[in-house]
Amino acid sequence: MTTATTTTDFQSWSHVHLQRVEATLRRVLPAPDIAPQRLHQALRYAVLEGGKRVRPLLAFAAGELANADPERVALAGAAVELIHAYSLVHDDLPCMDDDVLRRGKPTCHVEYDEPTALLVGDALHSLAFQVLGDYRLADDAKTQLEMVKLLAAAAGSRGMAGGQAIDLESVGKALTVTELEFMHIHKTGAIIRASALLGARCGSGLGQKELGQIDLFAKLIGLAYQVVDDVLDAEGSTATLGKTAGKDAKDNKPTYVSAIGAARARELAQELRQNALGALAGFGERALRLRQIADFIVLRKF
Ligand code: IPE
Ligand code: IPE
Ligand code: MG
Ligand code: MG
Ligand code: MG
Repeated sequence: MTTATTTTDFQSWSHVHLQRVEATLRRVLPAPDIAPQRLHQALRYAVLEGGKRVRPLLAFAAGELANADPERVALAGAAVELIHAYSLVHDDLPCMDDDVLRRGKPTCHVEYDEPTALLVGDALHSLAFQVLGDYRLADDAKTQLEMVKLLAAAAGSRGMAGGQAIDLESVGKALTVTELEFMHIHKTGAIIRASALLGARCGSGLGQKELGQIDLFAKLIGLAYQVVDDVLDAEGSTATLGKTAGKDAKDNKPTYVSAIGAARARELAQELRQNALGALAGFGERALRLRQIADFIVLRKF
């Protein structure tokens, strides 16, 4: 298969699945004319029209391996994206990264106000779990309960929220690579890992060993995701990123770029990708979509 064919193929696959998750997000978010209207408008503002939707795409790719119903995966992927969107709204608040631009638009607290942005995060967090509870997403109730627990753990103090705590207390410090890895695996990796596992758990086509391989893949590519985010913050432009470039250095945040330099960080992202692809070896051609997402994560410019 030529590169050109693969690219086109991935683009059309992404297009179909992006439309699917977009429609699902629109459906599960409260309508903007339902009271309290302003909060509901802000929820939609924070979630819709923007974002690469990498986490739902990962869920779809892993779901395909498990022969999962794409309607189920769309709901699981939407739940993860709601958690992710909440994490961004809070991450941008003045008490955290104090950012004014997100997904090419004013951040939620700038467009609305700080209390609304705080409540948007609260409400998105709850909505994610409501989605996981409202629909049948797995063949049996036990698996579905495990999915709820998986997302809760990934978002909590031993996952994303914990990673964010480390991020904030590390400002002005020089972290070792081991410490950086721990922070990144938590603040970003945990939700990426949950995305792939939730997608896979929507179907029953995979055994424990295969689920373990997907988990390892997602752990490595989740770390690569934040390494690349660090590089893009240092080397990308605000216009391309849709968020303020150069913010990490300005705020004195320890990143892979400050620790090992941008060139080495890019190499490390490639090494992580290679190792992640290694974890998929047993799946052969069936893991094509996961491999393509791994490529996108490392090669992306935004
Ligand atoms: C940004 O995530 C924050 C991180 C966890 C790295 P994304 O780069 O996935 O942001 P969107 O969803 O595409 O806007
Ligand atoms: C954010 O990391 C990770 C989250 C859990 C939201 P960053 O602070 O680097 O994300 P950006 O660069 O603002 O998107
Ligand atoms: Mg941050
Ligand atoms: Mg930030
Ligand atoms: Mg960043």
